[in-house]
Order: sequence, then structure tokens, then C-alpha cells
Amino acid sequence: MRTHYNNELTIKNLGQRVTLNGWVSRTRNLGSLFFADLRDRFGITQLTFAEGEIFTKAHVLKSEYVIEIEGIVIERQSKNPNLKTGEIEVLVDKLEILNEAKQPPIIISDDENILEETRLKYRYLDLRIPKQQKYLIERHKIVQSVRNVLVNRGFYELETPFLGRSTPEGARDYLVPSRIHPGNFYALPQSPQLYKQLFMVAGFEKYFQITKCFRDEDLRADRQPEFTQIDIEASFINEKDIMNLAEELVIDTFNNVLNLKVDANFDQITFNDALKYYGTDKPDRRFEMLIKDYTKYFKNIDVPLFNNESYIAGIIVDEAKFYSRKKIDELTNIIKKHNAKALAFIKNNNGEYSGSIVKNLNDEQLNNLKLEDNQMLLLIPGEFETVSNALGVLRLQVAKDLNLIDNNKYDFLWVVDFPLLEFDHEDNRFYARHHPFTHPKNVDDLKNNPKQALARAYDLVINGYEVAGGSIRIHQSDVQDLMFETLGFSDAEIKAKFGFFVDALKYGTPPHGGIAFGLDRLVMLITKTNNIKDVIAFPKTQNARDLMMDAPNLVEEIQLKELSIKVSEDK
Ligand code: AMO
Repeated sequence: MRTHYNNELTIKNLGQRVTLNGWVSRTRNLGSLFFADLRDRFGITQLTFAEGEIFTKAHVLKSEYVIEIEGIVIERQSKNPNLKTGEIEVLVDKLEILNEAKQPPIIISDDENILEETRLKYRYLDLRIPKQQKYLIERHKIVQSVRNVLVNRGFYELETPFLGRSTPEGARDYLVPSRIHPGNFYALPQSPQLYKQLFMVAGFEKYFQITKCFRDEDLRADRQPEFTQIDIEASFINEKDIMNLAEELVIDTFNNVLNLKVDANFDQITFNDALKYYGTDKPDRRFEMLIKDYTKYFKNIDVPLFNNESYIAGIIVDEAKFYSRKKIDELTNIIKKHNAKALAFIKNNNGEYSGSIVKNLNDEQLNNLKLEDNQMLLLIPGEFETVSNALGVLRLQVAKDLNLIDNNKYDFLWVVDFPLLEFDHEDNRFYARHHPFTHPKNVDDLKNNPKQALARAYDLVINGYEVAGGSIRIHQSDVQDLMFETLGFSDAEIKAKFGFFVDALKYGTPPHGGIAFGLDRLVMLITKTNNIKDVIAFPKTQNARDLMMDAPNLVEEIQLKELSIKVSEDK
């Protein structure tokens, strides 16, 4: 139907007869003149209407009417330098209304601040907003780029089932009841972990898939119950091969989509150092403020708050004056929510020291802290892990307060040498930190010293987000058995839950490993949003609801009956 898109016409097209389609974005009635902005996915063109019948007809146009027009490109009186088509307008002589529109509950404009609930309820209208559309267009480009990179490197794109068995990825499963097998359930995949390993057993050697994963876990700004992974697995490789591939994928994608040249050879940090210096396994290194260990320093200084504490660490903040008593109380509340006991502080104001523990230190001891003017030392006492975690949160909060993060910067970091296992004191058992298919660095450690065993695992962190995680896998059935045993599974349980898999490992399994990127997080970083919902077409709310479809919802009694399911009365 149309001859041009709405971002195309410029002064070069003057005098041309054109046909355009789109939505009426807004109208302006100036009495003797009537204007309408016509919007399509490409841009906006201003329409004006000749005197006579068409002028009267144009007055029925309202926002979001879908129309087709014909007319002549003319030069604009008042030009708009912000618009590609800002020098011209189309003088319309033929107008067809293809569809009318009710008054929309959302104003379709980049400039409006619309309540998230309304946006999600009317997501199809929200997605008409150019800014919102752009997130998904970028997502499309990223997906195409990733596909190209992997296909060019000889990876096959293979699909795996959604209806399968639960794999222990650490979250709660979404279950699907079976009608044919009453009382039996499929689990939606938390990731295609076992399937991709079985592709390696089957001899495909290089696999990838861009696929949905489902995890019933507490949602956060970077977490959704269904999200997308770029899932990768390869055979006859080591960690370096997979990490190189992941780096190439990131470099090419940033280059293709953002036209941004990323330096190769990302830095690496061990899990332990990440915790020690950044207080997290996903450090944001766009600003410094490293955590410092002050345990030795306070060994011979009597500070009652620090007595009998195994670890004392802190961060030095540059804007002491910003932190009033009230602001420090706010910081204290934050670290207490993260299980830390107390926050101590010392401020240097032009050589004058003040703060909660200043009275416990003499002049020399204060000077030895080497605080510059207007610096403040924040200290937390306790156990290494609790203190580190709390300081990690504090570090991010201070960076936010003082605006220390350069949003144009990208920081790429590998975190390596993760502990293989985590001991849960409540359940009195080990859990796999990554998943139970990760190869230990040293099998003897898994046997004799599981608490100390390290994993052949790696996480890719960009700007403080865990964007990808993977590992070299166990490919020997006896090591896999040992792993399951260490995790507390009995022989019968191993057989029942993973028998097929341990069996598969016995038929000539090549050494293999892989990685999975969180596509949504990658898109968030590339589009610079901190809300995962922006980059997902139809996302769920914080409490896992789809407001548009009103899901989850009740189903017909007959459906439940067919599935042999009875919902308990008190629900
Ligand atoms: P992992 O559990 O680390 O590894 O997941 C890989 C990546 O997926 C993203 N991710 C999420 N994104 C949004 N919402 C969520 N709820 C969510 N959960 C995870 C993260 C994460 O880095 N099978 C292994 C991969 C492997 O070993 O190859 C796995 O799933 O960006």
C-alpha cells in the first residue's frame, strides 16, 4: 500500500506524490490549519490537510486511529531539526481511516512517566512507545548477532524439550501435571543442562540454543520466572576455549549492535578475591573503593565493638561531608538487613576526627589510618563472609549516593575458582554451588576434602551483573556418582533421579563443557536499562503475574478433574 515509511521523506522528495500508513500520534487544530503526526515503527511524518472536504474529514482523526493517506511532499513552514523528516510535511488530499481507536489508557510518547502496572496491563500499547519498542528491536539485533557468531564457528542450533524432568539448578520448579499419567508431573526446564550434555554424548560436539528457562524463585530487578538463555556446549575443550568463545561472542555482539570496540582478554578474579575486595561474586569495577582488611590494625586497639571479632574490614568513602548522622543511620539499616551487626565510622574533617569509635583511638592511631581531608572510613566487624557481603552492599550504596558510576563504561570480568560445594548448616548437607555436573578442579579434593574443593567453573560479570555462567563438566560416571554421594543422595536416589544420565556417561562420553548467557541481562546492559521487564516483550510482575492476561488464574473444574488434581479448600 505505502510508498514510503514515516522516517524517509526529506527535502529531496519535495513535490512527490506519496502514500503513507500508520497511527495518528497526535493532532493539532489551529483553526485554519490542521496537523497530524503520522507514526509507524520507523518514525514520524507531519501531515497537513488541504482546504475543502478533506480538511473537514481530518477533524474526526484522534490519537491512535490507523489511517492511509495520499498527498504531496511540501516544505514545512516551521522546521523541526530533531526529526529526520522535520523539514517537510505531506499535504494530504486523500484520507482513508483503516481503523478507529478508543481513547488509549496510555499516552504513546517517550516523554510520559506511566505507572508500571498500567504499562504491563496494556503492554501492547506500551510497546507502541518508541523507547519501549527500541528495547525489543535491540534484542532482535543481539539475537541475530549471537546466532551469526555461533553458526559461523560451527555450532549447531538444536532444540530441547520443555516437558521433561526436574534438573537440580537450585530454584523451585514449575510443574506441569500429566493427564495421561495421573499424579505425575513434568518439570519445565530451569535450563537445558542435561540435554545439552547428552548432545555431547551423542557426538554433536558444538551445540547452542536460544531458549526459555523457567525458575520459580524470588524475583528481582534482574530476574524473571521465565527468561532466555543463550545456551552453549562443546566437546574436547577446556575452560580457556569456552571463555575465549564467550569473549568473542560478547566482543562481536557489542561491535555489531553498539558499534563499540571491546578490548579482548577480559580480566579474571578468583571468587575469594571478589568477595574480599568487592564483597560479592559479581563485582562492579566501574569504580574503585576496594574493601580493606583492618583486622590486624585493630588487634591491639581496644574498641569494645570489635572485641572477639574474627574479621574487621571497611571501605574509605571520599565525601565524608555528604554523610550526616541520619545518612549513616540509613547505611546502618541497610547493612543490618544483610546480617551485619554494626557499622562504625571515622571521619576526617580538615585534621579533626569524629565518629562512633574515635574516642577509642589515640592521635597516632587515627593518623595511621591515613584518611585524607573529607574522607570517612566505614568499618564492619564479624565473620569474613557476612562482613564482606555487607560491605559489598555498602560499597554499591555509596557509589549510588555519590554518583560514582560512569554509565558509559563497560567492565568485563571473569570470576573463577568458585568453591565446588556449599555446606548448608540448617539441612546439614552440601549443595552444589553451580550445579552437580560441574567438574572439580581436583577429584581427590572432592573425595577427601569437599569443603575446600574448587570448581572448574567461571562466571562472566559485566558492570556488576552475572551475565553468564558455565563450567567444565564431569564426564566420568564414577566421578559423577561420587559427586551425587557427596551431595547426600543414596544409591537408590541416584538411580531413580539421574540413572539415565549416569548410564549415558558410561557409553563413551567426551570431555565437555559449556556456558549459558542470560540473554535478558545482556540486552539490559547493551540497552542500558536496569529493569529486566523493559527487555522482555510480555514480562511478569514482581510477584510473577501477567497483568495483561491475568495469569495465573483459576481453571475449569473439568480440567482439574481430567488432571486428577484437587485444590485444597484453604487456598
Ligand atoms: P546459571 O544458573 O548460572 O547457569 O544461569 C545462566 C545465566 O542465566 C541468567 N539467569 C537469569 N536471568 C534472568 N532471570 C533469572 N531468573 C535468571 N536465572 C539465571 C544469568 C546466569 O548467568 N545450566 C547452567 C549453565 C551452564 O553450566 O552451562 C545455568 O543455567 O545471566
